[in-house]
Amino acid sequence: MTIKALVFDAYGTLFDVHSVIALAERIFPGRGHALSQLWRAKQLEYTWLRSLMQRYENFETVTRDALVHSCEALALKITSAEFQKLTDAYLHLTPHPEAREALQSLSAHKRAILSNGCPTMLNPLVQNAGLSEFFDHVLSVDELKIYKPDPRVYRMTADTLGLAPADIGFVSSNFWDVSGAGHFGFRSFWINRSGAIPDPLGYRPAAVLAALTELPAHC
Ligand code: 2OP
Repeated sequence: MTIKALVFDAYGTLFDVHSVIALAERIFPGRGHALSQLWRAKQLEYTWLRSLMQRYENFETVTRDALVHSCEALALKITSAEFQKLTDAYLHLTPHPEAREALQSLSAHKRAILSNGCPTMLNPLVQNAGLSEFFDHVLSVDELKIYKPDPRVYRMTADTLGLAPADIGFVSSNFWDVSGAGHFGFRSFWINRSGAIPDPLGYRPAAVLAALTELPAHC
């Protein structure tokens, strides 16, 4: 089976969401790790809840709301300047160390990003990391106002690329995203850097890889 295009998730897959820990640690010594973990967990939870409730707010709002809640839950008093710095850090997340090399080595494929991030977060992030040149499309769920893993989002991606789902390789470190894309019909690859256990969501990935640089062997 030939893969004609590769679609990458952004947060967690290309970019390390926990690169905010360094700043969080400077603001709240000893609590940076816990804050980053809860912030990310709540951010994702709010996307799913808002989709189910049909109460879409963009990823910028959801990310800010998740930070407010996480600080409150961890009893961390944050100033508005610190809050601003932490949310700005989301525009400067560090790409995973192997991302550039992997994207370079996949240049024979059409490459796109599909993210829950809204364009006002996603475009500066990709630009600041110097990765724009690698992508033909940077797609956001914001067009549809529903979050992954709703199948409509993956459908929009296949339509934009003008390809059948089976011709598309989907790459994510988020197992729920791998499952959603796989159920839709993409050939989904799970980037499992931490040796995590898969969730029983009824989809077995095409391959489980420890790093993005393992992708070319499967495409
Ligand atoms: C994404 O980039 C939220 O990681 C998820 O869509």
